[in-house]
Amino acid sequence: MMPGLILVPSRESDFNLKLKTEINSTDTRQPTKNLLSALFCCQMLGAFVAIADDSSLVSLPLGVDKTAYYVPHDNPMTRSKVELGRLLFFDRRLSINNTVSCSSCHLPSRGFSNNTKAAIGIKEKQGNRNTPTIINRIANATQFWDGRAGSLEEQAIGPLTNPIEMGMPSLDAVVDKVSAIKGYRKLFNEAFGSNVSIEGLAKAIASFERTIISGNSRWDQFEAGNSSALSDAEKRGLEIFEGKGRCNQCHSGWNLTDEKFHNLGIGWDQKEVDLGRFQVTGLDEDKGAFKTPTLRDISETGPYMHDGRFASLEKVVEYYNDGAIDNPYLDPEMQRPDMTLEETLARYSKKNSTDAPPVKMLNLTYKEREDLVAFMLALSGEGWQNIQAPEAFPE
Ligand code: HEC
Ligand code: HEC
Repeated sequence: MMPGLILVPSRESDFNLKLKTEINSTDTRQPTKNLLSALFCCQMLGAFVAIADDSSLVSLPLGVDKTAYYVPHDNPMTRSKVELGRLLFFDRRLSINNTVSCSSCHLPSRGFSNNTKAAIGIKEKQGNRNTPTIINRIANATQFWDGRAGSLEEQAIGPLTNPIEMGMPSLDAVVDKVSAIKGYRKLFNEAFGSNVSIEGLAKAIASFERTIISGNSRWDQFEAGNSSALSDAEKRGLEIFEGKGRCNQCHSGWNLTDEKFHNLGIGWDQKEVDLGRFQVTGLDEDKGAFKTPTLRDISETGPYMHDGRFASLEKVVEYYNDGAIDNPYLDPEMQRPDMTLEETLARYSKKNSTDAPPVKMLNLTYKEREDLVAFMLALSGEGWQNIQAPEAFPE
């Protein structure tokens, strides 16, 4: 029997989610899905209500795929770890000059993203990529726009020593700095039974991030059979999303992403092109490809695209509608709409040649574009809003 997390909307309040755990796993071949304790749920997430339940039934907030919820074997979730991770996530002392925390860029009030075009770290230094949301990063998928981190654990230590993010000189320096704080020494000991370590820090932050969840949007309710959950305009938008717009070719599944990498032409109008996934794989076909972002809570997380070039969803739709910026590596799905997938794939094999096919347009009317935007606004969900910054930090 697999252990699992159960999150269901509570009757008491729309914004409350009930969280059930079921932890009697005997099948060690299965990844440990979840070991959240009932106690942790109540204390950590405030509005989350825990229900101890040893039934084998497993469900999640409406719309969230329970099979996607992944917790690595070597980092089971415990209350002490998640709480430690929350403190570390919000603690500016993890940066060189005590000014920047993970939450400086991943703002809870902005859907764990922020509204600057490119990320701004220590001493107002500016990066060249937009801050993605970290909602629903619960799958065992690659992290970052280019997927260069294989897990949340691996990702968590990246920003610490990034010179334009948190600017620490080394991971050892991070460990020394955190170890100097008595309260953290105690919390690491409680969570891991050991001293402060970079592995422990990564595991704690990753565990906390696995609690940043969004589900039960009006789209989820509609998909679950409540036909009045979406307005007429939103329903028309959904039809375009899945039909004429072909958006769901990439923004697919429960989290509206295939977790794959695509070149949409974003950045190919610049002198220096960010080659994205290519920097990780070295493969030509990955040049200029970036990970498909989730569209959940998309109204909160603008500006949009890896370079934050679009300030509004209307501008994003305009881009798709007018045809992408052409380049030799453009994703075959962008050559549309009057070719079948097979035809575009056949042409894709010629993508490195000079006769790359011309970019096609979607030809959506103004009203259709409005409907598409209306639909995307119905993707706002619940869960992550319950996560609060700590009131005090360890001394
Ligand atoms: C200076 C702003 C900044 C800070 C500080 C920062 N991040 Fe990020 N974060 C970003 C940007 C920008 C990206 C995308 C970078 C890229 O893809 O190259 C990102 C990506 C991520 C991702 C991957 C999301 C995805 O969809 O793949 C996660 C997870 C994440 N950050 C967590 C953290 C954690 C944990 C910390 C603290 C240890 C942190 N971030 C600190 C700006 C920041
Ligand atoms: C070929 C795959 C693909 C298709 C088709 C596609 N998208 Fe995307 N979408 C992506 C990728 C990849 C990105 C990020 C691209 C980048 O930044 O370079 C993205 C970014 C976005 C963003 C910005 C998200 C953010 O957090 O910055 C929105 C909004 C969006 N797409 C909506 C749509 C809509 C609406 C459609 C249909 C008209 C659509 N997409 C079709 C792959 C796709």
